Amino acid sequence: MGNQKFSTNALHAGHDTTQTAGTRAVPIYQTSSYVFKDTDHAANLFSLKELGFIYTRLNNPTNQILQDRLAAVEGGVGAVVFASGTSAISTGLLTLLKAGDHIVASSSLYGGTYNLLNVTLPRLGITSTFVDASDPKNFGKAVQKNTRAIFVESLGNPKLDVLDLKGISLQAKAAKVPFIVDNTVATPALLNPIEHGANLVIHSLTKYIGGQGTSLGGAIIDAGTFDWANGKFPEFTEPSAGYHGLVYSEALGAAAFTFKLILEGLRDFGGALSPYNAFQIIQGLETLSVRIKKHSENALELAKWLEGRDEVAWVNYPGLKSSPYNKLAKEYLPNGQSGLVTFGIKGGFEAAKQVTDATSIFSLLANIGDTKSLIIHPASTTHQQLTSEQQEAAGVGADLIRLSVGLEDIEDLKSDLKAAFETLK
Ligand SMILES: Cc1ncc(COP(=O)(O)O)c(C=O)c1O
Repeated sequence: MGNQKFSTNALHAGHDTTQTAGTRAVPIYQTSSYVFKDTDHAANLFSLKELGFIYTRLNNPTNQILQDRLAAVEGGVGAVVFASGTSAISTGLLTLLKAGDHIVASSSLYGGTYNLLNVTLPRLGITSTFVDASDPKNFGKAVQKNTRAIFVESLGNPKLDVLDLKGISLQAKAAKVPFIVDNTVATPALLNPIEHGANLVIHSLTKYIGGQGTSLGGAIIDAGTFDWANGKFPEFTEPSAGYHGLVYSEALGAAAFTFKLILEGLRDFGGALSPYNAFQIIQGLETLSVRIKKHSENALELAKWLEGRDEVAWVNYPGLKSSPYNKLAKEYLPNGQSGLVTFGIKGGFEAAKQVTDATSIFSLLANIGDTKSLIIHPASTTHQQLTSEQQEAAGVGADLIRLSVGLEDIEDLKSDLKAAFETLK
């Protein structure tokens, strides 16, 4: 399994039922550790002479099925799962980079990622330059001698800017650094960044892939396409002091980074996904293709409806003809543009808070990608720590309301927002 189309891979990849007592559902292996046959077996596992399970911080059979399935649906050679999307991003960057290194990133990132790159990583000597992602050349212009990664979101949260991934991947290629794409909002059902030149793909599995709002999780999918031996990454070509002299690129070839993430990233930073959460996320992945279609349909219809409302100053959804990203959406997201819609309410900050407080079907909370509809006013919540200039660069004005449009009946969603707008009168 693995070479099939998306929906088939999402249901089957990675699960050989003959290896799991014939269970049709992926079982939960709720164990912290694994019994070795003898000390030689244990020694072989630790030295990678044999592949197998040692300890659940490094890997687990339920997690492995999720990893194989994510690699199949994104088109990678391997994947590693983590306790959250944030854990995937921080462990990924800390496994890849060292003090003195530099990242070029899109300025329209999820607030948590922006903070990691802008405040926390600089404390460890890893700095970032944020660029306007609407022109791929901006990435190339910001590359420095010490740049070691280009980082973007394929569909920015909450700016909803669709990026020219192909154009940016060429800039990364010219700079000889990996192109890392957070594909959380677009999902692998709508967009596969590896097809457009991404070397590493990141997901918060908490969102559309899990889909039900029950479980946190994250993943990194390795395209296996980056040349770690290009001279810029000695940690891959010289014996690793952290894993008894292993030379990653020689020993593990295309899967070098996947293994480094497990052997050093998970071992040292410990952000392992619970097998129970992996099971929950697998249930979500199995129905992702049908859910994301409906999320996208509901979001487009609601966005069009919002455009016709007097109370609304502007609407942003990549599927709208009025969107500056509509042309790129047609190229990169032709089968749907996912479930996030942002809009500005006339009356600014206070009016936006009031509408957000007045909905009843839309739940006020800090998440996206749930089957249930969600609403938030980022300027007073998720993005409140940013300066107004930083908020503007992230696409978060004072009047902006973000909707994560769920799977409810679209007429009920319109009625809920209409009633909330009426409280402004
Ligand atoms: C695009 C994006 N990436 C990463 C994350 C972080 O994921 P998690 O909340 O699972 O840590 C989020 C969370 O909202 C997100 O929207």
